[in-house]
Amino acid sequence: MKIIRRKSELRALIREWRQTATTIGVVPTMGALHAGHLSLVEAAKARADRVIVTLFVNPRQFNNAEDLAKYPRTEESDARKLAPFAVDVLYVPEPEDIYPDGFATSISVTGVSEGLCGATRPGHFDGVATVVTKLLLQTDADLALFGEKDFQQLQVVRRLATDLDLKTEIVGCPTVREADGLAMSSRNLRLNTEARETAPMVGQVLESTARIIGRGVDVAQALSTARAALASSGFGEIDYLELRGDPDLMPVTTADRPARLFIAVWLDGVRLIDNVPVKAA
Ligand code: PAJ
Repeated sequence: MKIIRRKSELRALIREWRQTATTIGVVPTMGALHAGHLSLVEAAKARADRVIVTLFVNPRQFNNAEDLAKYPRTEESDARKLAPFAVDVLYVPEPEDIYPDGFATSISVTGVSEGLCGATRPGHFDGVATVVTKLLLQTDADLALFGEKDFQQLQVVRRLATDLDLKTEIVGCPTVREADGLAMSSRNLRLNTEARETAPMVGQVLESTARIIGRGVDVAQALSTARAALASSGFGEIDYLELRGDPDLMPVTTADRPARLFIAVWLDGVRLIDNVPVKAA
């Protein structure tokens, strides 16, 4: 696996690859890799001739300086984790290759980016949309893989790829969970021992609430029961717990069409997010 840090070097290599029929699969990440990220890498290897993993902690998608500063930076161990997958390139761009002096462009997706994390993290999806557009263009991606763990992000990326005529096919991959059901996230490492034991309740409450909504139980009632269960188990503020249509993410009050249940909840100073599909029984 080659580690490339300059856009010019990446371009030269891609020009070489393009002399033969080659498909390029790209997995954008912010590093601190875990099995969730690696599942995307595996899916990319199965679908593309060449695979590029990108590692860039994107300042523009963080809402505060402290969260950005606390974000783990573990390039060496990330590179080691990628070794068994025979990835072609780990692209770790220098900040000036993403945001050149005087950078003044922003990609802003309306609709799917509104509500949920868009409401509680102002500007976050503009930051994501801008960097993802740049990474897909720089890597000349034929396909790019994103996790359903960040389902709203996946829909934002699908929207921008369609609207901006990117040639990249956007592929969504299922959420990878710990054995106890907690959705994998680099933020899980910040939970203390007790909170780590409580955290899997997020997935359990989502699953059970989705099941009863699928059976036709009143949605508002089901959501308020879920809120009470989380509050009594030691969770902090719930940023949102909502049923939304899939894939448009419009608010829905009954599960009479494809829908997903979304949550962002605080535990031990850590914001956990998760989502599950609601299947009509
Ligand atoms: P990051 O949080 O590093 O996630 C990179 C990719 O891994 C995203 O597509 C995310 O949805 C996926 N992922 C994370 N946890 C997962 C899990 N448990 N199961 C499956 N997939 C999982 O998301 C970002 O980085 C950034 O916003 C980025 C797209 C790189 C733009 O900066």
